Amino acid sequence: MQKVAIHLIIAARPNIMKVAPLYHQLIKSTWAIPILVHTGQHYDDNMSGTFLRTLNMPEPSFHLNVSGGTNAYQTGQTMIAYDELCQKNKPDLTIVVGDVNATIACALTAKKRGIPVGHVEAGLRSFDPTMPEEINRLATDSISDWYWTPSVDATKRLQKEGVENKKIVEVGNLMIDSFCLMQNEIMKNKITETLQLMNKDYGVVTFHRPANVDSSNQLEKIVNEVIKISGALKLVFPVHPRTKKRLIEFKLYDKLATSENILLIEPQPYLAFMNLVRTAKVIITDSGGIQEETTYIGVPCLTLRENTERPVTITLGTNQLVSVDTVYDKVKATLMAPSPKKCFIPGWDGKASERLFQHLEQIFAEKLK
Ligand code: UD1
Repeated sequence: MQKVAIHLIIAARPNIMKVAPLYHQLIKSTWAIPILVHTGQHYDDNMSGTFLRTLNMPEPSFHLNVSGGTNAYQTGQTMIAYDELCQKNKPDLTIVVGDVNATIACALTAKKRGIPVGHVEAGLRSFDPTMPEEINRLATDSISDWYWTPSVDATKRLQKEGVENKKIVEVGNLMIDSFCLMQNEIMKNKITETLQLMNKDYGVVTFHRPANVDSSNQLEKIVNEVIKISGALKLVFPVHPRTKKRLIEFKLYDKLATSENILLIEPQPYLAFMNLVRTAKVIITDSGGIQEETTYIGVPCLTLRENTERPVTITLGTNQLVSVDTVYDKVKATLMAPSPKKCFIPGWDGKASERLFQHLEQIFAEKLK
């Protein structure tokens, strides 16, 4: 039987949680050969390898080894490296996920080689053109062949932008699939014990977006607010490599590290991080994925951004946008309010990868006859 070769592109930490459930669907099938391609954007073991192992993924078949540098460098080098790979090893389909630099780099490269492209998490928009991720989303969604959306707002956005209906399938949220798959392991994880947080009130802080960390002025304001909040609530802060670099460069790292009620820790493996989130009183973040995970679990999320490409987490979930000027008051208000209930968003049910897999079967039905 003829088989279909599918490249699954992973680059940065959150991509792995979105690709893993689909990889497991494809590897079980009789007709697909899923091929993992790691572009190298996140290269530290604690940003990549540990996530692959936890989610029972094999070592990627190909490593493009593109890391560091500017957005243009990352995008350009990834295009060159992926083009060389496609020349030797042309797949029947390239699947890209999310909004990172490798998403647009590999989508563009595949298209120019005549390879169809599918985009997981299509249709999200922050309407903030200063974010590199927004440019990546817009550009990827202007050239994809298949659009797999996580929620109805994303589907409607693509329709409004003129994407043909037959190319859009609202499969739901693949990141929630990973959470559902690993839920038991997440519950068993011992991180709260290790950090002596069992049965204690604490918050989790994470941020890494260029708008928050690349300007010393903004980063200093955030650091001051975090310290102020730690007067009211113990805070655990897994520091992203970009953030660490900037904190050290702007001489703010020690200020945080010496604050009594703040626990600065390394980026955490998936199970440990989700375990921490699960029993936190509040999460303060600028991450995209965490806005979704907190909504699914029912933990209050304060997003330190002016906008979100995931509005459904606000309208139906536990998410609120905050600024450096409002975050302290919002934390106080959150601590006083009753805990939110677990929210239900259509398609966030642990079955998104199954729906995507069924769509892939339809796409390749002719070829597989
Ligand atoms: C990227 C994504 C962002 C996503 C985030 C998830 C883009 C434009 N941004 O941001 O959408 O939310 O990943 O974490 O693609 N570094 C290390 N070790 C690593 C990885 C990175 O030291 O394992 C360093 C890099 O060399 C760089 C910095 O951290 O100096 C930032 O990494 P970068 O790839 O620019 O993107 P992120 O800020 O992580």
